[in-house]
Amino acid sequence: MRPFIYQTHPQRIVFRAGALATLGAEADTLHARKLLVLCTPQQRDLAERAAEVLGARCAGIFDGAVMHVPVEQARLARSCAAELGADAVVAIGGGSTIGLGKAIALESDLPIVAVPTTYAGSEMTPIFGLTEGGLKRTGRDARVLPRTVVYDPDLTLGLPVAMSVTSGINAIAHAAEGLYAGDRTPVSDWMCREGIAALGRALPVIAAAGGERDSAELRAARSDALYGAWLCGAVLGSATVGLHHKLCHTLGGSYNLPHAETHTIVLPHALAYNAPAAPQAMAAIAAALGRPDATGPQAVFDLAASLGAAVALRDIGMREKDLDRACELALQAQYPNPRPLAQKEIRQLLDDAFHGLRPG
Ligand SMILES: NC(=O)c1ccc[n+]([C@@H]2O[C@H](COP(=O)([O-])OP(=O)(O)OC[C@H]3O[C@@H](n4cnc5c(N)ncnc54)[C@H](O)[C@@H]3O)[C@@H](O)[C@H]2O)c1
Repeated sequence: MRPFIYQTHPQRIVFRAGALATLGAEADTLHARKLLVLCTPQQRDLAERAAEVLGARCAGIFDGAVMHVPVEQARLARSCAAELGADAVVAIGGGSTIGLGKAIALESDLPIVAVPTTYAGSEMTPIFGLTEGGLKRTGRDARVLPRTVVYDPDLTLGLPVAMSVTSGINAIAHAAEGLYAGDRTPVSDWMCREGIAALGRALPVIAAAGGERDSAELRAARSDALYGAWLCGAVLGSATVGLHHKLCHTLGGSYNLPHAETHTIVLPHALAYNAPAAPQAMAAIAAALGRPDATGPQAVFDLAASLGAAVALRDIGMREKDLDRACELALQAQYPNPRPLAQKEIRQLLDDAFHGLRPG
């Protein structure tokens, strides 16, 4: 047995279809009396449903969450919470909304109740990100870890198929890198395999359902996908991820590429780069995806391609002339990775991802 340190985060997880109805009771468990509900403008209706469930406990709704948490939005949301005398926030939505909740908690210590509606996994991590002047700064702080997470698969029934696929593969990325993290444990290894397998089973069912929103099979798949996202998010919260997350952070932050799509495209290539140094992790990924005939990187690539996701960076707005600089930026800081970082090979990785080649 490898030696390990296993540290758990203090969080309460509620998981069931219809769990949104428990929001008031969950607020009471935290002794919260005045909760500010956060959302994007697109998810205002959902925030209003949450406000209705909270009843008199709702202090107001702030619907200004946007991707990558610009500091200006964080300031507005903090002032709104202070003016309303909020004693907790409810972040209902994807990683951007939960990120805004974290920006408030970072300066105020207000507890967060997260109600995730994508598979990004931010609700399970003490990681925050703030963007200022085009630069995204991230950090870890125990204060931003949501105290309570309410997983309600019903809230994901309307998540568009394309977003479901890329968000699901974003979650798989956390677990894939968790499988070769230096600080992994036997428990996190299990969570990685189980999380990847749950998403690998669920995403094809969700994609096949197309625009359909209600069938027993789809509900089961949505539930499985959210369960997988929970496990993968928990891995991101506790393991130190490597090259893949660093590349996506650089590409997203510096070239404003969409978060989940970027993860989906880069993951097979980052895994192929690390494969020689982490063969067991690759075998575990292929097995979890039910593809013993393929390598781990190929299994991830095939999953994305077969479900209609973009597989080339050039198709989501990356310019070929920016690849050299992106490579330089990704290599600037040292970070843990199973295979040492080599300039020429990482530049090749970016080229392969740019053109959407299937890993050999
Ligand atoms: N700190 C962390 O640990 C962590 C982890 C993962 C992602 N993130 C951050 O989260 C952000 C990306 O989050 P994301 O991929 O969840 O996207 P997002 O939160 O930006 O959501 C994208 C769009 O989808 C909408 N949406 C969300 N759920 C929906 C649903 N069920 N139905 C219909 N529309 C829905 C949102 O309102 C938004 O308009 C990035 O900024 C990323 O850096 C942070």
